[in-house]
Amino acid sequence: MTDATRLSIVLRQRPTGAPSAANFASVEEPMPTPAPGEVLTRTLFLSIDPYMRGRLSDRASYARPVQLGEVMTGESVGEVVASTVPAFAPGDVVVGSRGWQTHSISQAAALTKLDPHGPPLSTWLGVLGMPGTTAYSGLKDIGHVKSGETVVVSAASGPVGSVAGQLAKRAGARVVGVAGGAEKCLWVQEALGFDDCIDHRATDVAAGLRAACPNGIDVYFENVGGAVQQAAFALLNPFARVIMCGMVAEYNDARPLPGPNLMFVVRNRVRIEGLIVSDKPERFAEWRALAAPWVTDGSLRYRETIVDGLENAPEALAMVLGGGNFGKMLVKVG
Ligand SMILES: NC(=O)c1ccc[n+]([C@@H]2O[C@H](COP(=O)([O-])OP(=O)(O)OC[C@H]3O[C@@H](n4cnc5c(N)ncnc54)[C@H](OP(=O)(O)O)[C@@H]3O)[C@@H](O)[C@H]2O)c1
Repeated sequence: MTDATRLSIVLRQRPTGAPSAANFASVEEPMPTPAPGEVLTRTLFLSIDPYMRGRLSDRASYARPVQLGEVMTGESVGEVVASTVPAFAPGDVVVGSRGWQTHSISQAAALTKLDPHGPPLSTWLGVLGMPGTTAYSGLKDIGHVKSGETVVVSAASGPVGSVAGQLAKRAGARVVGVAGGAEKCLWVQEALGFDDCIDHRATDVAAGLRAACPNGIDVYFENVGGAVQQAAFALLNPFARVIMCGMVAEYNDARPLPGPNLMFVVRNRVRIEGLIVSDKPERFAEWRALAAPWVTDGSLRYRETIVDGLENAPEALAMVLGGGNFGKMLVKVG
């Protein structure tokens, strides 16, 4: 790649099962020039998120799949290189929804300018970005956690789960996490302050959750599905709330698993509600304003796994789907 070219990663072939580098191709092309109303940015950090697996399949969903030959979608933090609008100048740092590219053209209206002296730039893709907002929105709009209640959070060390658990602790709940591996569980308890954490890769999750939740579960923040979901659903109390945020354990499956018997929803008058973070766009600014001081004063904790180089983005996506990440998965591009 030269200064006069940019690199993009496009979808070459739809994966069966876990995605790999073979499903993508790199394309080098001349550096584009922004048209009126547009801004050219150089990518600094690219966010890698579980939802990206859904965009690789040609299935109906809440968002349109990426087409073969099209640039892979993704949020990134970047530096403005050229701008046609007065609101953005070269050197400004911005966050926005763009793609797996070293340089991107965006509509100015789709970018948010960041304070270079504020929280670390990568946090605008994790704890202060879309995943953090998802945790905040799920608890505010669906969870309604009360002091003394028991809250279970799956994928507890990830950017959604780690924020969800810390917010539930702030609300006075007993918080139990589910995470993969002793190191993640230790961090979830010691750094994030969860009361307990079940290692789903080493122990019987159902027995672990029964022991950790002697009063049942009042709020379940669902991030993974599969065996963890079955174990958590069995412990839901009357009038429990389930935040149906994601089921990452099943994203690589070609067919959905046979579902649970939902009669417990009736018996226990359980409210189950799906969450798509973009349905309430006002939550993004609200969460940034609330949480940025907590990140700065260190009272809201987070972790990141950073892979170097845009060409390693496909490998980073496979890692996030299989638990190879510890905290927010990012690619450092520039
Ligand atoms: N609804 C929305 O608007 C919205 C927005 C953002 C994210 N989400 C969803 O929220 C969930 C968490 O996202 P995130 O960005 O915070 O991801 P993440 O936690 O960084 O990554 C996913 C984690 O899932 C865990 N996992 C993978 N396979 C598993 C299995 N078979 N059983 C149990 N756990 C498994 C792994 O952690 P362990 O090693 O701990 O198992 C992996 O690190 C995902 O389902 C995502 O799709 C939804």
